[in-house]
Amino acid sequence: MSELIEVFTKDGSYSLRSTLFQENFHSLLGALEETKIKFTAPSDLQRFKGKSLNVLDICFGLGYNSASLLNELIKQKSHLNWYALEIDKKPLEYVLKNKSFQNLWSPKVKKIFLSLNQNDYFEDEFFKCRILWGDAREKINIIPADNKFDIIYLDGFSPQKCPQVWTIEFLSKVTQKLNHQGYLITYSSSAAVRKTLRNLGLEIFTIKPSLDSKTSWSWGTVAIAKFDKNKLKPNLNFKNLSLMEEEHLLTKASIPYRDKDLNSSTEDIIKKRLNEQLSSNLLSTKKWREKWGMTKSAFKS
Ligand SMILES: C[S@@+](CC[C@H](N)C(=O)[O-])C[C@H]1O[C@@H](n2cnc3c(N)ncnc32)[C@H](O)[C@@H]1O
Repeated sequence: MSELIEVFTKDGSYSLRSTLFQENFHSLLGALEETKIKFTAPSDLQRFKGKSLNVLDICFGLGYNSASLLNELIKQKSHLNWYALEIDKKPLEYVLKNKSFQNLWSPKVKKIFLSLNQNDYFEDEFFKCRILWGDAREKINIIPADNKFDIIYLDGFSPQKCPQVWTIEFLSKVTQKLNHQGYLITYSSSAAVRKTLRNLGLEIFTIKPSLDSKTSWSWGTVAIAKFDKNKLKPNLNFKNLSLMEEEHLLTKASIPYRDKDLNSSTEDIIKKRLNEQLSSNLLSTKKWREKWGMTKSAFKS
């Protein structure tokens, strides 16, 4: 775990920091809290009570998002077909030694994680789970084409640190895996990511921050495929983008990350985008920030 450092977050849950990506796996306010509000709540899992669903977890990491999902589905007796993509086995090995993490969930979650660690696989009467180790850009191709997902979690490091999982080309592959009315859920409210998802034909929504959140105007994005307003059940956790968020998508911040052959380095993707931004006529992001009285630290792009 040389490039991973243990982090204790404010809600009492453990996380990691990657010195390679120079970023924490979770907000310091709380790893568990972040999972619940940015991933589990918008998933609206009660829809699948006693039914079956397909879920894809991209950038599994320590597995908070999937552990929380599994925990809920165990309680409500749903059937699950689950895939995960992750490049590094060390975060899973870490949580399998961390009692405090395990105590957050039903004992069955540990059983599943142990099996994923040993066999990359778990199966019983309710759950069929498979984790694919390696670069998500490549491993996503292994998932059978007819496997479409009701929920996809996208939890990579931020676009500036790990642009590989936020490019037009990768997001296009991801959105092809969404079921009708399937939800793609991410903590990111980056204009580039949102604009890309919208251009790929998805309807995008903002995850509402709590009323007492002073530092954040959004807790992420839910993108819905083949959107049919009549079929969408009211969800208290997300809503249409505000005018401020819509205008964000008209600025240079909305210029996408590109990775033509899905094998570019971080540096190449960032450099290409910077050049595109320099020659673009779009509104400057600084002007947008000034108009809406925003400091740079108030948002994570
Ligand atoms: C922010 S952390 C994920 C946190 C995680 N979802 C959780 O609940 O703990 C980002 C993860 O992305 C993984 N990652 C980075 N680049 C990747 C890639 N190209 N393909 C797959 N996984 C990648 C990292 O190893 C790290 O575990």
